[in-house]
Amino acid sequence: MSEKPEILRPSDAGIAQAARLLAAGELVAMPTETVYGLAGDARSGEAVARIFAAKGRPAHNPLIVHLAAIEGARALADLPEPAEALAGAFWPGPLTLVAPLRAGHGVAPAVTAGLPTVALRLPAHPVARALLTAFGGPVAAPSANPSGRISPTTPAHVLAGLGDRVAAVLDGGACAVGLESSIVGFDAGRAVLLREGGVSREALEAVMGGALSQDASGKVTAPGQLASHYAPRAALRLGVLAPAPGEVWIGFGPECEGAELTLSATGDLNEAAARLFAVLHEADHLGRPIAVAPVPVAGLGAAINDRLRRAAAPRG
Ligand code: TXA
Ligand code: MG
Repeated sequence: MSEKPEILRPSDAGIAQAARLLAAGELVAMPTETVYGLAGDARSGEAVARIFAAKGRPAHNPLIVHLAAIEGARALADLPEPAEALAGAFWPGPLTLVAPLRAGHGVAPAVTAGLPTVALRLPAHPVARALLTAFGGPVAAPSANPSGRISPTTPAHVLAGLGDRVAAVLDGGACAVGLESSIVGFDAGRAVLLREGGVSREALEAVMGGALSQDASGKVTAPGQLASHYAPRAALRLGVLAPAPGEVWIGFGPECEGAELTLSATGDLNEAAARLFAVLHEADHLGRPIAVAPVPVAGLGAAINDRLRRAAAPRG
């Protein structure tokens, strides 16, 4: 695909057209409350192959399957008891659960990169829910950015990164959460945090009634999670309260009053999460090295710091 994508309004007609494109095996950029997803029919090997090709994504990095209702998730996977509890608390919302595939699930093998488990999410964005309902099947959707680059939180970000590789962009406005979903897997029935994201560890632990387990490596990591990710083109330094001349300084909180850009002038972590990728995109356009102020690690700060560390990591 190399033509310009259709920009679809989030009207009944726009949503119906997006659902038709999905049913025809095409790719549609779908708004969610976390980031825009590059959506395709999860049951179609061809559509899924297109997703990997459009992003330049390594085949060993599995995709998240999006559904309109929990019954759809239960049809694809065996949700262990703690998964049901987390789903009850946070679905629809910015949480992905990884659970064993059921026989006859019908999902294309490339979606799970051949793993016996599948990552599942019910997004809360009303336009995503309407599209998933209209389509009526499981939708595979990674973030709608070229692999390794900054995630998209507006239609403009999608067009800048993948504009010639999607059939349509369904316009749902700017993403309210702004960080990808938290990912939780299960090891012998215990919840393991695989990716920090839009639901804080504290909120997950409150529902689980105790600390989340670590995986064997002791790190928070999903397969295919890249050390360098969310990367702007320019170099990026973290924890900076005194930027060097020429650097674009991204501030956080009132002590960074002179900063050129800010994640949140008042030091609000929810606002900082929602603005993070848009501010990184904006800083990147300025074409100068980037310096980011320290961000506390509590609540959504953990996921913000995770994304910033990967954005600053040496590029592969
Ligand atoms: O908020 C989000 O999660 C967004 C929106 C579009 O839903 N999607 C997203 O997808 O962030 P993506 O592809 O950028 O990240 C998916 C993550 C990867 O780190 C992948 O390794 C992990 O999910 N994942 C997928 N299937 C898995 C599985 N079976 N086991 C463990 N991790 C899995
Ligand atoms: Mg991504």
